[in-house]
Amino acid sequence: MKHLMSPLDFSVEELDRILDLANDIENHPEKYAHACAGKKLATLFYEPSTRTRLSFEAAMLNLGGSVLGFSSADSSSAAKGESVSDTIRVISCYADICAMRHPKEGAPMVAASKSSIPVINAGDGGHQHPTQTLTDLLTIRTLKGRLNDLTIGLCGDLKFGRTVHSLIHALVRYPNVRFILISPDELRVPSYIKENVLDKNHVPYQEVERLEDALPDLDLLYMTRVQKERFFNEEDYVRMKDFYILDKKKLELAPADMLVLHPLPRVNEISVEVDEDPRAVYFKQAQFGVYVRMALILTLLGIEI
Ligand code: NCD
Repeated sequence: MKHLMSPLDFSVEELDRILDLANDIENHPEKYAHACAGKKLATLFYEPSTRTRLSFEAAMLNLGGSVLGFSSADSSSAAKGESVSDTIRVISCYADICAMRHPKEGAPMVAASKSSIPVINAGDGGHQHPTQTLTDLLTIRTLKGRLNDLTIGLCGDLKFGRTVHSLIHALVRYPNVRFILISPDELRVPSYIKENVLDKNHVPYQEVERLEDALPDLDLLYMTRVQKERFFNEEDYVRMKDFYILDKKKLELAPADMLVLHPLPRVNEISVEVDEDPRAVYFKQAQFGVYVRMALILTLLGIEI
């Protein structure tokens, strides 16, 4: 039985197969409409979510399966003091696979150690978000045609943004990838990622503060929200929250074929006028999230069509 905690739980070849399957699902959805008949997905969400939870549920429904779960800790027995370990033992009796989001780093890993069904990390605190990374890889590979030879700008809250952490882990495995890390000083990529992932894999990167300085060189710009819920005090958040605002004027500095991605939700970091620009692909990205989660569910359940 396989769980998904980090993008590194799959080899590059396994990831390629999942992305190929997601592309086939997009092109031939009818082939997969009953693939998970009789199977159940549990969504255990101890933290707010729109896309991740609902795209998981849409994915399972598209496969002909069913879904059950909770969408906040308050509406589960966590509010009564039940541990994640006990909850997952019980859920293992009710469902065939589960996706868990939790504010504490490592909680899905604890669940996986006690589970008799595959557990998918749907975001654990400021740590990792591997299924957003699958979504990002599918978006990039499909729209850009490759995952190698890319200069990627990661912009915003690189300290607490789990989507950024997982994406860096995944992309360093492809040849000739380099990063421009665009953030205020206080929200830089944590040093454990710079040392253990970027330096260790000899991946070139630069840290800059001004988005304008990076834009002309980018193949991809990955914008992120300042992660309000991870700040210790409101004042720091208020100071940081509008540090970057991508608007039409700034986008004039970018190459004509640069793509703008964002895991969403967006707050102010991309102004709505950018949505009309053909380079803005964040809503398409949300659609790719359904295909790739369908491919992931099939893979972890060992179902072949
Ligand atoms: C992200 C998350 O939850 O980390 N959202 C998502 O799953 N698409 C990004 C965010 O909340 O800013």
